[in-house]
Amino acid sequence: MVLATPSPTELVQQDREHLIHPLYHPDDHEAPIIFVKGRGAILTDAEGHEYIDGLSSLWNVNAGHGRPELAEAAAAQMHELAYASNYTGFANVPAIKLAAKLAEISYPNLNSVYFTSGGAESNESAFKTARFFWKAKDKPDKVKVIARTWAYHGVSMAAMSATGMAPYHKMFAPLMPNFLQIAAPYRYQCKYCSDQPDCNLGCANELEQTIEREGPDSVAAFIAEPVQGAGGVIVPPQQYFPRVREICDQYEVLFIADEVITGFGRTGKMFALDHWGVQPDIMSFAKGITSGALPLGGIMLSDRVQRAILDVPPANRWMHAYTYSGHPTCCAVGLANLDLMLGENLVGRAAVVGERMLEGLKQLEDHPNVGEVRGLGMIAAIELVADKASRKPFDASVNLGTRVIDQFRRRGLYTRARGDVIALAPPLMIPDDQMDRLIKIVHEGVQAATASVR
Ligand SMILES: Cc1ncc(COP(=O)(O)O)c(C=O)c1O
Repeated sequence: MVLATPSPTELVQQDREHLIHPLYHPDDHEAPIIFVKGRGAILTDAEGHEYIDGLSSLWNVNAGHGRPELAEAAAAQMHELAYASNYTGFANVPAIKLAAKLAEISYPNLNSVYFTSGGAESNESAFKTARFFWKAKDKPDKVKVIARTWAYHGVSMAAMSATGMAPYHKMFAPLMPNFLQIAAPYRYQCKYCSDQPDCNLGCANELEQTIEREGPDSVAAFIAEPVQGAGGVIVPPQQYFPRVREICDQYEVLFIADEVITGFGRTGKMFALDHWGVQPDIMSFAKGITSGALPLGGIMLSDRVQRAILDVPPANRWMHAYTYSGHPTCCAVGLANLDLMLGENLVGRAAVVGERMLEGLKQLEDHPNVGEVRGLGMIAAIELVADKASRKPFDASVNLGTRVIDQFRRRGLYTRARGDVIALAPPLMIPDDQMDRLIKIVHEGVQAATASVR
């Protein structure tokens, strides 16, 4: 028997009765948008309203919605072999092919892959692998992970402990021991240099000071997003990552790049550390690998880290696992997505169209409440402040960010904010006319929301 599709009103009622959502509170869920269709950069809701997907949904739908190539790849693989174990002693064709493809397109020193189902699982795997590496090197006390404020690394227990935003911790504390936080390279609000004419790399040097204070023999890894996404699209100064790499090398600390958002073209390079000529020891990825069509993530390991896994005796094996590691259908979709991204040069497009987006948004900088517009490739943010001279934010009770998002929504643009920092990261394929419309809605929405609080 086929059940009739409930009406939008019935759907909302059933949702409220049965569904718990990420970051949930019922007060924020009184009138949820129920998405029913996605094509390119456009989402349609159950009532027929259309929205430009200004955040590629959750920074993941890089190639756009509704790509038939991905549906066909999934269907073909599901007909052949939807799932099989990928545990030691077994393998499948899409996982092998995708691992080889990733080795080809990622940093030259990363040539091996462990697959997960998403970003938090990837970071958990990265932390465990960093600890494993040092144990294999007879340095079993190197266990600490240094992360940064404003970081978002997911919200499973260890990933949450690396995530540097207090609201994610409040009702779940205490955090795991051996996770520490240092300052982010947040030039606009930096405690070291926001009142200086130039960045003085105080935040990078804090990494060195922290390693020295904790003792280099206790620190396993430093984790950083190349551009901090959910924390407010924080783009680092030019010298930041070269200095981080230097410090990690000097103190024998593994550098984990969390490229869950920045990977697969988002910043106008296939992987973002390429902007600064730096290579990580471990890279976490997820999201854009399938453009969100199926859940898939993973870590890529430098040859040195892979070697440690290959060289330990069986009794010390890398005893880490997920049922869905190397899932054949997810990997087949990952392969099809990479084919599509490479075939359409979506990475190059992100660089060009992203620059146009940033230029268009930068025209808002004359507005009395627009403190900064920043971005890199197809990821940008607008930071709203009460006072531009002091960079003082609005009182939290004003809820300006929420008001802006609401104004966007009324005009047909979906995105998210961190406080009063509004993020934009549309699909890399967004057509020019939709990009123009996105910029226009952003201008109008910011004007309307700020006028309502003055
Ligand atoms: C940089 C980064 N790392 C990790 C994650 C966690 O990914 P997931 O939600 O798939 O666990 C996210 C999610 O937004 C992210 O932005």
